[in-house]
Amino acid sequence: MTRVLVAYGSRRGSTADIAGWIGDTLRDQGLEAEVADAGAVRDVTPYDAVVLGGALYAGRWHKDARRFARRHAVALSGRPVWLFSSGPLDRSADEAEIPPVPQAARASAALGAREHRTFGGRLARDAEGFLASRIAERTGGDYRDPDRVRAWARQVAEHVATTQGTEA
Ligand SMILES: Cc1cc2nc3c(=O)[nH]c(=O)nc-3n(C[C@H](O)[C@H](O)[C@H](O)COP(=O)(O)O)c2cc1C
Repeated sequence: MTRVLVAYGSRRGSTADIAGWIGDTLRDQGLEAEVADAGAVRDVTPYDAVVLGGALYAGRWHKDARRFARRHAVALSGRPVWLFSSGPLDRSADEAEIPPVPQAARASAALGAREHRTFGGRLARDAEGFLASRIAERTGGDYRDPDRVRAWARQVAEHVATTQGTEA
């Protein structure tokens, strides 16, 4: 069975949820999917394909996603990779494609990623922390669209199914 790893870098849990939705969808499409914290993955060689996502903070891609991309670049060179970011605390991600931040763009180039997608984020209205609480006062809420995430995951599943067997 085709095995897909969905790895994520998340600080407050919302990117981890998105990774979980992607994993569920891939399983619904008949693939074997494992969802894991990017910082905890030691070996990607058991997987046929990888989806890597990171939360956005101050224009930066979560460090666990960045490190994952660096650490596993060689092993991933023969495997199809998809990237996603989650962050915008408004509906902008649903209205137009938001390009990757520079760190995610670099990871995309280094890994030869098939695609990068930006999804809306979530910040609880009662978020703690000096900066987070101020942002939450203005734009706190849940801007993730599970249907959009699942639709993308179905596309990934289709591509995995068609590329499987043609990769090195
Ligand atoms: C301090 C702070 C800075 C943020 N900076 C950005 C940003 O630069 N770009 C963006 O799109 N979202 C930004 N966000 C929103 C987060 O990316 C969003 O809350 C995301 O869903 C967090 O993911 P997590 O729950 O997995 O950590 C920021 C949020 C906080 C609290």
